[in-house]
Amino acid sequence: MAEKKIWITGASRGIGAEVARQLARAGWTVAVSARSDDELAELVGEANALNGEIHAYPLDITDAEACVRVFADIEGAHGPLDTVLLNAGTHEPIDGTAFSVEPVRKLVEINLMGTVHCLAPVIERFVARTSGKIAVVSSVAGYRGLPTSSGYGATKAGLINMCEALRPELEMAGVTICCVTPGFVRTPLTDKNPFPMPFLMEVEDAAARIVRGLERDAFEITFPRRFTYMLKVLRMLPYALYFALTRRIVPKDGETS
Ligand SMILES: NC(=O)c1ccc[n+]([C@@H]2O[C@H](COP(=O)([O-])OP(=O)(O)OC[C@H]3O[C@@H](n4cnc5c(N)ncnc54)[C@H](OP(=O)(O)O)[C@@H]3O)[C@@H](O)[C@H]2O)c1
Repeated sequence: MAEKKIWITGASRGIGAEVARQLARAGWTVAVSARSDDELAELVGEANALNGEIHAYPLDITDAEACVRVFADIEGAHGPLDTVLLNAGTHEPIDGTAFSVEPVRKLVEINLMGTVHCLAPVIERFVARTSGKIAVVSSVAGYRGLPTSSGYGATKAGLINMCEALRPELEMAGVTICCVTPGFVRTPLTDKNPFPMPFLMEVEDAAARIVRGLERDAFEITFPRRFTYMLKVLRMLPYALYFALTRRIVPKDGETS
C-alpha cells in the first residue's frame, strides 16, 4: 500500500481523521478535507510523528463549485489520486411525529448532495484515465427504515443505491466504487446518542477495517460483521414482522435527543 495518494472528506475528526492517520503511517500521501480548519491543522501537525504526509484542504461539501476546485487543487499539487474516501456526513435524529422540511433538507444537502458534489468531478477524472478507487461512506441505517432515522436513513439508503447503480458502469470504465456500511463507531457523532449502542466499535478498529477494505476489490466494507449481518437478516423480514420489531424501538416522549 506504499506511496499511494488518497483524498478523504470529513477528516477533521472521527472515522475520517483516524483513517488519515493510519494511511499516513502506512506511507500514503493523504489530502484531508472538512470545514474546521483548526482540526485539520492539528491533524497535519500529527503527520510528522507518524512519519507520513497529511495535507489540509478545507472544504464545505455543500458547495459544489468548491468541491470541483479542491479536488483539482489536490491533484494539481500531488498528482493523480489512487483513491478517494467520501466520508463527510452528519446525523440528526428526527421525531417522526414532528416531521418537518429543514432537518431533512440539511441531512440531504450534506450526506447525499455533498457526496454527489465530490463524486462528479472524481468520476470524470477517474473515468478519463480508466483507473481509481472511490469509497463512499454510508451506514447500516441505510439498509432499512428505522425509527428517528427518516432523514439520516434516507440519505444513507440513497448512497448505497447510488453506489450499486454505479458499480458495474464504472467497472467497465476501469474505475472501482465501493460502499462502506459501518454499525456503531465511537466518535463525536455517536457520543451524543442517548441510547445504548449494540456492538459499539472503537474508531481505531473501524478505521483499520476501512483501510483493509480499500486493499480489496469487494463492493462492501461492513463492520462489525456480527451486527451488520444481523441487520441484513432483518432486511428479509416481511413488513408485518419488521414493523412489529421496529415499533418496540420508537422512543418514548423526550427520548429522541
Ligand atoms: N460513527 C458511527 O457510528 C457511524 C456509523 C455509520 C456511518 N457513519 C458515517 O461515517 C461518516 C463519519 O462519521 P463520524 O462518526 O466520524 O462523524 P463525526 O465524528 O461527526 O465526523 C464527521 C466529519 O464530517 C465532516 N463534515 C460534516 N459536514 C461537512 C460538510 N458540510 N462539509 C465538509 N465536511 C463535513 C466533519 O467536519 P467539519 O464539521 O469540520 O466540517 C467531520 O470531519 C459519516 O458519513 C457518518 O454518517 C458513522
